Amino acid sequence: MPKTILITGASSGLGEEMARQFAALGYNLALCARRTDRLSTLQTELAGRYPGQRFEIRALDVNDHAQVFDVFAAFAADFGTLDRVIVNAGLGKGAPLGTGRFDANRETAMTNFVAALAQVEAAMQVFRAQDAGHLVTISSMSAMRGMPKGGTTYAATKAGVAHLAEGLRAELMRTPIKVSVVYPGYIRSEMHERVKSPPFMVSTEVGVRAMVDAIEKEKPKAYVPWWPWVPLGAALRYLPLPVARRFMS
Ligand SMILES: NC(=O)c1ccc[n+]([C@@H]2O[C@H](COP(=O)([O-])OP(=O)(O)OC[C@H]3O[C@@H](n4cnc5c(N)ncnc54)[C@H](OP(=O)(O)O)[C@@H]3O)[C@@H](O)[C@H]2O)c1
Repeated sequence: MPKTILITGASSGLGEEMARQFAALGYNLALCARRTDRLSTLQTELAGRYPGQRFEIRALDVNDHAQVFDVFAAFAADFGTLDRVIVNAGLGKGAPLGTGRFDANRETAMTNFVAALAQVEAAMQVFRAQDAGHLVTISSMSAMRGMPKGGTTYAATKAGVAHLAEGLRAELMRTPIKVSVVYPGYIRSEMHERVKSPPFMVSTEVGVRAMVDAIEKEKPKAYVPWWPWVPLGAALRYLPLPVARRFMS
């Protein structure tokens, strides 16, 4: 029996490409997002390419917390087991604090942190019942340090997501439930469509290949792609703030 992975935010960018790459590795997939037209196109593509595997889709707005629990439970019932859940849905809105854009910062905080908490809760209910499973949260290299300007709220949410994973890992260390956190650097996706290409940006395929490799190895923490993000991450984390802020966009 192929194993099953649930991916949130599978309608574009990293989630969509993770679906393609995990399908190629032989997994069944439970895919969700708000844009079901895109999920449906992806489902048709994957089913055509891998007829022996199962690809199910469901509409999900992660800010509808009741729907998060319902959709995760429905997927668990569909497949019988969920072997891995990837908490990936997120957005990159934000504005400098105190400039009248609480709406954008609140939307970022709700989607990237509170909704991620709902997804982790829903996944952990399934994993505790199964006494098995692999939880993966998608953080960001921006979680290494408090970020200035429009990145402040986003970076704080991604630090929060990483801490959810680490806290659970500490609790579940000697159990069959595994927990990983992935810190992507800049990987091309819809998130970057309206901004100038940041430095060290890699293609979706290359970036997601590094993510998938790390997830398959069940690494507790992965900075991806490793170059330049492993050394840059260490620099960001440990340099004094007046120096580190020069690396922050
Ligand atoms: N790309 C990068 O360089 C980078 C770097 C670090 C971390 N990340 C993280 O990687 C994750 C994926 O981002 P991406 O780069 O792939 O961006 P993206 O192409 O914009 O994809 C975001 C995904 O999240 C989903 N999503 C957003 N709000 C949602 C909501 N309320 N309910 C359900 N789904 C929602 C979107 O689906 P719908 O709109 O169809 O609902 C979409 O599938 C995010 O958590 C992001 O913070 C990305």
